[in-house]
Amino acid sequence: MQTAEIRRRFLEHFASRGHTVVPSASLVSPDPSLLFTVAGMVPFIPYLTGREPAPYPRATSVQKCVRTLDIEEVGKTTRHGTFFQMNGNFSFGDYFKEGAIQHAWDLITGTVDDGGLGFDPEKIWVTVYLDDDEAADAWKRIAGLPDERIQRRDRKDNYWHTGQPGPGGPCSEIYVDRGPEHGRDGGPVVDEDRFLEIWNLVFMQYELDDVRSKEEFRIVGDLPMKSIDTGMGLERVAYLLQGVDNLYEIDEVAPVLHRAADLAGIRYGKDHDDDVRLRVVADHVRSGLMLIGDGITPGNEGRGYILRRLLRRAVRSMKLLGVEAATLPELLPVSRDAMSASYPELATDFDRISAIAYAEEEAFRRTLTSGTALFDTAVQQAKRAGTPTLSGEQAFSLHDTYGFPIDVTLEMAAEQGVVVDEDGFRALMKEQRDRARADARAKKTGSVDVLAYRRLLGEHGPTDWQAYETLRTDSRVLGLVAEGDDDAAPRPAGPGEITRVVLDRTPFYAESGGQVADAGFLIWDGGRAEVIDVQRPVKGLVAHQVRVLEGELTEGAELTAEVDREWRLSACQAHSGTHVVHAALRQVLGPQALQSGSYNRPGYLRLDFAWQGALTQQQRSDIEDVANAAVRADHAVSASWMTLPEAQAFGALALFGETYGEQVRVVEIGGPWSRELCGGTHVRGSAQIGTLALTGESSVGSGSRRVEAVVGLEGFRYLARERDLVRQLAELLKAPQDGLVERVSGMLSRLRDVDRELAELRSQQNLAAAGQLAGAARDVGGVAVVTGAPAGLTGGDLRTLALDVRGRLGDRPAVVLLASDAGGKVALVAALNQAALAQGLSANDVLKAAAGPVGGRGGGKADVAQGGGTDAAGIPAALQAGESAVAAATGR
Ligand code: ALA
Repeated sequence: MQTAEIRRRFLEHFASRGHTVVPSASLVSPDPSLLFTVAGMVPFIPYLTGREPAPYPRATSVQKCVRTLDIEEVGKTTRHGTFFQMNGNFSFGDYFKEGAIQHAWDLITGTVDDGGLGFDPEKIWVTVYLDDDEAADAWKRIAGLPDERIQRRDRKDNYWHTGQPGPGGPCSEIYVDRGPEHGRDGGPVVDEDRFLEIWNLVFMQYELDDVRSKEEFRIVGDLPMKSIDTGMGLERVAYLLQGVDNLYEIDEVAPVLHRAADLAGIRYGKDHDDDVRLRVVADHVRSGLMLIGDGITPGNEGRGYILRRLLRRAVRSMKLLGVEAATLPELLPVSRDAMSASYPELATDFDRISAIAYAEEEAFRRTLTSGTALFDTAVQQAKRAGTPTLSGEQAFSLHDTYGFPIDVTLEMAAEQGVVVDEDGFRALMKEQRDRARADARAKKTGSVDVLAYRRLLGEHGPTDWQAYETLRTDSRVLGLVAEGDDDAAPRPAGPGEITRVVLDRTPFYAESGGQVADAGFLIWDGGRAEVIDVQRPVKGLVAHQVRVLEGELTEGAELTAEVDREWRLSACQAHSGTHVVHAALRQVLGPQALQSGSYNRPGYLRLDFAWQGALTQQQRSDIEDVANAAVRADHAVSASWMTLPEAQAFGALALFGETYGEQVRVVEIGGPWSRELCGGTHVRGSAQIGTLALTGESSVGSGSRRVEAVVGLEGFRYLARERDLVRQLAELLKAPQDGLVERVSGMLSRLRDVDRELAELRSQQNLAAAGQLAGAARDVGGVAVVTGAPAGLTGGDLRTLALDVRGRLGDRPAVVLLASDAGGKVALVAALNQAALAQGLSANDVLKAAAGPVGGRGGGKADVAQGGGTDAAGIPAALQAGESAVAAATGR
């Protein structure tokens, strides 16, 4: 049975039993505490925890998932994939254990003709949590399973949570016995390869906290209702029903595996190591395709890093299979063809996806060259040192700086007969991971406060949000939530205090979609508060962070909520400006220049987009021209609501990683000229944006660029500042404005001439000075001694002068000591010739003697020594001291 058919049967089975079919959410987890969507339940977490009311009592989905914890196992076992699809059915306070077991049993053992999957009931085993008699009884009653095929396991196996604080509960897993040729008797507790888990039914019941591992967590309370979350591994079922040996050989994966084997000129199934590599390639190429498809670009941290690691492992594996040429251009289209039946967007978006993947392969091939050089040096050093071990630090640095996955390093080391200190490497990796976890924890704040907001939402319902309609509402304070409070205490806030306010109705825009929150005031009889931030801590509820300026703010107060008009207009200009720049980028650079993030505040916007390499000056000015032409055209700006598929058919650009509700809002500028899914506030016509000036363009990681721009009054001010600067320069240079460039380049070239002349003059002067100094040599005990203090020379020039003087003193023993005061610093140079050296004199001794009086020190060789000091007043004494040193050394 084809994978697509299994998926269809699953959804059909549950749809016919009252479940709403929900499309897969993005792989970029809608839950901020998770990097990726790791299970079918992730998009439903708010319903399970009761943070949002579930829009349906039952749902079913086939969810795209990525898990990379077991990445090292990929290819080695039959069942570890980094990308997989999870078929799930969900009940939100509707049916519980019995219902879940009944639905699952009917589907797996239902005959193929009846729309089931046709598994032999005799081959089914299940596990339940230690004390879960209720589930065990249900299995007996509903499925007629004998006691020995119902096994009990502890938290490690039969309890499920996401690995983060949140919902969880005991679970019951369904296994299929693949037969004695695949392992030992005794059920899943004995052998999980022979007995393959295909479906996990989770009885969601508790709120968990302090989640440290699979089995270490704390149950903090009951969820508001008992729910069901199940996950059936689509790939695993496919591999059983397709009669193949593992999930890399199913219809959606095998074509890549075989294409890779062709490229390598080998046959799959002949050599174990080669087979593992081919499976790694097949798995990772598909995961890469799906991740880029969902808007992730390769990078050095977070999701981007995991994508990078997957692609690099695939490329490296192909290299180990002997393929030197670029391989993704061969493999990625094969994976697309295998996957686009279920995910048509992979085909329509393939230009963008492939550009990113191919660029990453190119970058890695360059890295392999430079990293391999580093690797070779490290190996040579290790071999020379007689310890053929690569240290943990070296392996870590290859990994961290050069993107070498550890198994790449291990394999390369093994080829060289060198071992790697893997423990050391893992320790460093763990340190890095712990740091990342701590960061993630630090970022996840406010979870306690959420309780207070949830309560307010429960009591009063969602905020009547009027940001699109008006800038001013008459409102009532429903609750005050003090900073760090876990309860909405009705404590009034007085002047100077900061508190958070929930109103029944508000015109304030809460920060979202890249647009910052509105600024403004709450005004009541006898008081005023300034709004400093606006957020939506729980869906449907708007919270205003305010600083009370006068009076006292109390729960129940009637007040006027008023958005700062100027602020909002500028915010609208910036947000509409962002859409205009996005459209202009795509017009000038092509549709692959897709926005990956944005931020806008009054007067300013920035937009990150997928692009390799810096923009040229021409591209920048083209983008600015297109954008400003659209502003001048005064396109109408309008917003309308529709379903997501309608919006997509309409050509509206959706942003990756955003979750959209049933109805989405599409903002158009000039109709089809720009269509984006957006919840922000906008101007009415594009001319209102006013001026739009690009101020910067930069890199924000591999394959991602950022443009920045100023709009409206800020745009005008920016240009006005530039104009003013030009005016000032023109005045200063007494040149017409359009002759400025010529004038400045003329000046620069004259400046260069003058520099040259100056250098010549200085050397002439030095020559003359050298002559004078040499002429004033005195005889000290048979040695010609020259001391002098030419002004304003720094070390290098003074040394040149000293050597010049020495040269003029001929073959008789000669010592030259010069000191110069250059801007408060004293430079000292002592130089003597061969004849003086022969008499046992040393430039070093002379310099040391001279350095004292100027408060300095120095040294050098016997023939030339150099130093410096800070006390210019000591120069005469320094010269005298040097001369005395010569006298002393010659015995006079
Ligand atoms: N959420 C459960 C799992 O991922 C079904 O196994």
